[in-house]
Amino acid sequence: MKKWFAVIGNPINHSLSPVMHDTWLAEQHINASYIPVHVEEDKLCDAVQSLKLLGCSGWNVTVPYKEAIIPYLDEVDQSAKGIGAVNTVVKTEDGRFVGYNTDGLGFIESLGAISQTNRILLLGAGGASRGIAHAFKQLGFSQIAIANRTYANAERLVEELQLGQAITLEEAQSTLGQFDIIVQTTPQGMKNNSAALPIQLHQIKEHAIVADIVYNPLVTPFLEEAKKYNVRTVNGLGMLVHQGAIAFTYWNGVKPNTEQMVERLTEQLGGNYVNR
Ligand code: ATR
Repeated sequence: MKKWFAVIGNPINHSLSPVMHDTWLAEQHINASYIPVHVEEDKLCDAVQSLKLLGCSGWNVTVPYKEAIIPYLDEVDQSAKGIGAVNTVVKTEDGRFVGYNTDGLGFIESLGAISQTNRILLLGAGGASRGIAHAFKQLGFSQIAIANRTYANAERLVEELQLGQAITLEEAQSTLGQFDIIVQTTPQGMKNNSAALPIQLHQIKEHAIVADIVYNPLVTPFLEEAKKYNVRTVNGLGMLVHQGAIAFTYWNGVKPNTEQMVERLTEQLGGNYVNR
């Protein structure tokens, strides 16, 4: 039987995952397809049963089901357990369904070569920040600060993950020069959202990396601002591609080409922006 994979979510029609995975499947000569599945709010249970029944070999999970999917799985790996969310489901050879979270690791891979001694500043304390903070911790990074509009949420995350320190956005701005990697994880800057910057970057360190997990637009107002300081900027497309590549490797046992995919999707999104 031809293998097939899926992504479930709501909404799902703008997902870039189908074109990404179908391209990789073709490049690797794997006879399989990857299908977007729109799942209505009260239909997650039915949808998961159907995926299992119809022989789906694995699927991605996106908003709003990353947490709700967990009870339907046979097992959840350490990273997904720690984060409390699953974005990738793998069917094992003996027919069990195991949940993983590749978002945080995917983000870190998208940064390229970095060092454990780097000091990290995360802006935002929501689900995306949790995933990234957890992955940094897993990889042995210990100098992490989480700054958030609502300070109590940053405090809660730091406590939950047992790492780093919580600071206010004002503190983040005034101590910015201490950080090597600054990650914007809030939806601010997304198309149709506020263009206001979470913090000003006057104090930024030379050779810092500024990353935004948003990829629509490819250059957010935050990255636009960072470019004025001549630092390396990384947009959210790399995270999308690398989280997908890790999932692809779980499913197919081979690593797909991430660099070409970032270029291809950048072109598809109409930008000539290249991460430097
Ligand atoms: P996700 O799960 O995608 O990370 P989320 O859980 O909605 O999204 O988290 C949103 C994060 O962005 C939160 O840290 C939120 O701050 P609060 O804890 O104060 O709500 C932050 N956020 C959202 N909109 C923001 C804005 N306009 N300015 C600053 N922070 C914002």
